[in-house]
Amino acid sequence: MRQRLNSMYNQNAFKLGLFSPNCAGGMAVTTVPERWQASWDNNLQLAQLADEVGLEFLLPIARWTGYGGETDFQGESLETITWAAGLLARTQRISVFATAHTAFTHPLVAAKQFATIDHIAGGRFGLNIVCGWNQPEYEMFGLALPTEHDVRYRYGQEWWDVIRRAWQSDETFDWHGEYFQLKQARCTPQPVGQSRPPLMNAGSSRQGREFAARNCDFLFTVMIDPERGRDDVRAIQAFAQAQHQRALQVFTTTYVVCRPTRREAEEYHHHYAVECADQAAVERLMTLQGMYAQSFPQEMIDAMRVQFAGGHGVYPLIGDPDTVADEIARIHAAGFAGATLAFVDYLRLVARGLRVL
Ligand SMILES: Cc1cc2nc3c(=O)[nH]c(=O)nc-3n(C[C@H](O)[C@H](O)[C@H](O)COP(=O)(O)O)c2cc1C
Repeated sequence: MRQRLNSMYNQNAFKLGLFSPNCAGGMAVTTVPERWQASWDNNLQLAQLADEVGLEFLLPIARWTGYGGETDFQGESLETITWAAGLLARTQRISVFATAHTAFTHPLVAAKQFATIDHIAGGRFGLNIVCGWNQPEYEMFGLALPTEHDVRYRYGQEWWDVIRRAWQSDETFDWHGEYFQLKQARCTPQPVGQSRPPLMNAGSSRQGREFAARNCDFLFTVMIDPERGRDDVRAIQAFAQAQHQRALQVFTTTYVVCRPTRREAEEYHHHYAVECADQAAVERLMTLQGMYAQSFPQEMIDAMRVQFAGGHGVYPLIGDPDTVADEIARIHAAGFAGATLAFVDYLRLVARGLRVL
């Protein structure tokens, strides 16, 4: 039944979605005046446009504090669970994900929030689970980020297991786990049709990928280029099949600079991602994501700096509509089942760009 309700399971061979419109700046770490303003009105207009033009999904970023710099990149953001509920109530067909940090939301609260949204959405809800990496956010919540990935994902697994149990139990239940001790727990109502929403994870570590192979329908991975992405997809899917007898679809993330000509697109990219990059925010973002100078050759750091300013380090699609469409076809040919898109100004470019693509 879920297959019929949720566009993540439609017949399209390659799924397209928008990433991070709930955050100020979106994915572009730039000072240009046309950079994305993540107001509710802008998000609602964008969601209804994406619904109308036939995109499959919207994916937010759960962000609690920004990256500083001149623009305080992603400092302002709409909370993802309430954002998803609001957008699903005002759209018809598109799937909208919420992103949850396992450490910041009690699993029983989350179970009920997600089940409620799923009823608002008539089964169009999706869930992205983040098991933690951002130290300053943990400190903000007065929590210690576990240094070991094994601990982060063990906690995440138990968190998800409590939610699954709450969604499958007709009776109340006690839970005696490593992290949660629950008495007479329950979640009523349960998700639509007692089926679970589509689940994704975006961990790039071994533990993150194992978590996805064990639990998720989709793994999101950042790719360097489609060719290296092909090997990644094959390795991930082979692992999920061999270890868990599960078919895991792999998605990636991109940012788009589309103009009538390639030269115009490259000129605009240079303008916003080099001349007007919010350098201080780019440095902070790269540092937090472990891009310490000593880990990479300088020219690679410099190239990555532009890609971080341009689109938070994800894969760039820069050119005229044909070039961008060809690149998307290349990503599909490499074995990816879908990708997210991001724009400096989503509304202006989605309205114009996607109708062309
Ligand atoms: C598509 C995508 C979406 C993500 N969304 C979020 C998010 O909303 N909030 C967050 O804190 N991290 C987010 N991340 C980071 C990952 O969830 C993950 O925590 C990070 O890659 C570190 O995982 P690892 O330590 O297992 O490698 C995202 C990453 C990707 C590629």
